[in-house]
Amino acid sequence: MHVEVYNDRKTASRRIVDLVARQLSAYPYSVLGLATGATVIPIYEEMIQRINHAHLDLSRVHTFNLDEYMGLKDPNRHSFHAFMRHYLFDPAHLSPDQTFFPFPQFSQDPPGYDRLIEQHGGIDWQLLGIGHNGHIGFNEPGTSFDSETHVVKLTENTRKANRNWFDGDWRHVPEEALTMGLKTIMRSRTIVLAAFGASKSAILAKAVHGPVCVEVPASILQYHPRVYIICDQEAGNLLRPGPSLNSSKLSRQFDV
Ligand code: GLP
Repeated sequence: MHVEVYNDRKTASRRIVDLVARQLSAYPYSVLGLATGATVIPIYEEMIQRINHAHLDLSRVHTFNLDEYMGLKDPNRHSFHAFMRHYLFDPAHLSPDQTFFPFPQFSQDPPGYDRLIEQHGGIDWQLLGIGHNGHIGFNEPGTSFDSETHVVKLTENTRKANRNWFDGDWRHVPEEALTMGLKTIMRSRTIVLAAFGASKSAILAKAVHGPVCVEVPASILQYHPRVYIICDQEAGNLLRPGPSLNSSKLSRQFDV
């Protein structure tokens, strides 16, 4: 895993957008995997700024979002689709035929989302946040490492963590969502995980340094060959550089 810790989230967001810009200048037709949540807002703001200054071009990409709530009363307000339109798709002028979500299209056939991703050539560049319990997408602790897109029952903690998007009442956060699975995410060619703020430091350290286990879904990223962990000081304060691993006895090597 390649870890970079920046002074603040704005600088870290700039670095993440540098990475996507590099990807897009090499492959303008890239397939991007996108995330929602407070973490990605400064990243999308930075992307929009660069698009407005003609320093970034998303016109030829296709995007696949990680997840979407099911059973929302007011999808126009609370869906991840609405979030994406507001923060990225509308200001970046992305058309609906460029942008995909697992729900509602794949509610009867969740693995069909994986097939659609593969038909588009697979995800080149996947952006992730991390939940306080180590979830990525909505893959809660206990999710099989072998999972493709599937329906999940959200834990009470995750619903509480997302209550701010629902006027502060966690009972209004849906109980179910459709999410890419861990195998779906691991198929991405490059993965960039962003984590900001002190509340993420403990789980980030577990994901990066702890054992790879289903109790910490993000720990599976340790097995991915091309992962960037980009965080601010607060989220990164428990991360430590790894020893230099040159021994032939080692079966795996990490940057951290
Ligand atoms: C949500 C999303 C995840 C996101 C995570 C962190 O549950 N499904 O994709 O990474 O929570 O959210 P935040 O960035 O708001 O802390």
